[in-house]
Amino acid sequence: MGELSVNHLLGIKYITKEDVDLIFETADHFKEVINRPIKKVPSLRDITIANLFFENSTRTRLSFELAEKRLSADVVNFSAASSSVKKGETLIDTVNNILSMKVDMVVMRHPNPGAGVFLSQHVNASIVNAGDGAHEHPTQALLDSYSIRERLGEVAGKNVVIVGDILHSRVALSNIFALKLQGANVKVCGPQTLIPKHIEKLGVEVETNLRRALEWCDVANMLRVQNERMDISYFPSTREYVQQFGLNKALLDSLDKEITIMHPGPINRGVEITSDVADSDHAIILDQVQNGVAVRMAVIYLLASKIKQ
Ligand code: NCD
Repeated sequence: MGELSVNHLLGIKYITKEDVDLIFETADHFKEVINRPIKKVPSLRDITIANLFFENSTRTRLSFELAEKRLSADVVNFSAASSSVKKGETLIDTVNNILSMKVDMVVMRHPNPGAGVFLSQHVNASIVNAGDGAHEHPTQALLDSYSIRERLGEVAGKNVVIVGDILHSRVALSNIFALKLQGANVKVCGPQTLIPKHIEKLGVEVETNLRRALEWCDVANMLRVQNERMDISYFPSTREYVQQFGLNKALLDSLDKEITIMHPGPINRGVEITSDVADSDHAIILDQVQNGVAVRMAVIYLLASKIKQ
């Protein structure tokens, strides 16, 4: 079996197409494992992983923890709310203290963009970025592409539109990198104020009309408006946002083709997507969650095999 070109997963920006292929092949194997009656393999019995969450999370945190446990790793969990970070400790000190307890790998979610890159340069452990502010969320993008590949056969050549708050979304940026790396065509769609200037330089097109974007795409990835990252108002009202960028059943039914609907969660039902769409056969939202465990098992397994060498 091949090996990853990197020792950390800090962002999709830092990995290659070969890395993505290797992660997906490995995830195929682990997906088969987690559908067995005994959903566990002993592969990482000698590895200890710390999950450091300095920002809220439900899915990602549970998904990483399940992935680690299904590989038989020892797992310790840390959340900023109940830690000495509140007493003024620096990130490097916090992590070095944890590492001195013989931890091999750190999975970290942090509000500051670049926190994972910074840590990887200062501590002696393999770092997995579980979301760094509005920057990258590489495992989400990997599980998203893996789910497209599962539903549509391949990612190359597919038309994918990412809809919503592109400006504040680490899911959007990591997805753009991952989809382009695999040869998909990518558009972003949302209010002009929530689309970063010069985003075309990443090889994507901007479409501000949702209907036109849907008519073009095979896959629509609907993102949440990240109100917690906004200190000013980017659109007049939620009602207006819903009218222009919300995906509902009537709009979907009015297209003369089938499209695959994705969402990274958490969903704001009735805002970016209505319940009847989120719960329809077009949506692969829960497949994404299920695939997340297999993809994270693959990432952790492949990074751990580099530590063991
Ligand atoms: C996303 C995140 O935290 O970046 N959720 C996730 O990880 N599944 C997206 C979001 O918060 O809207």
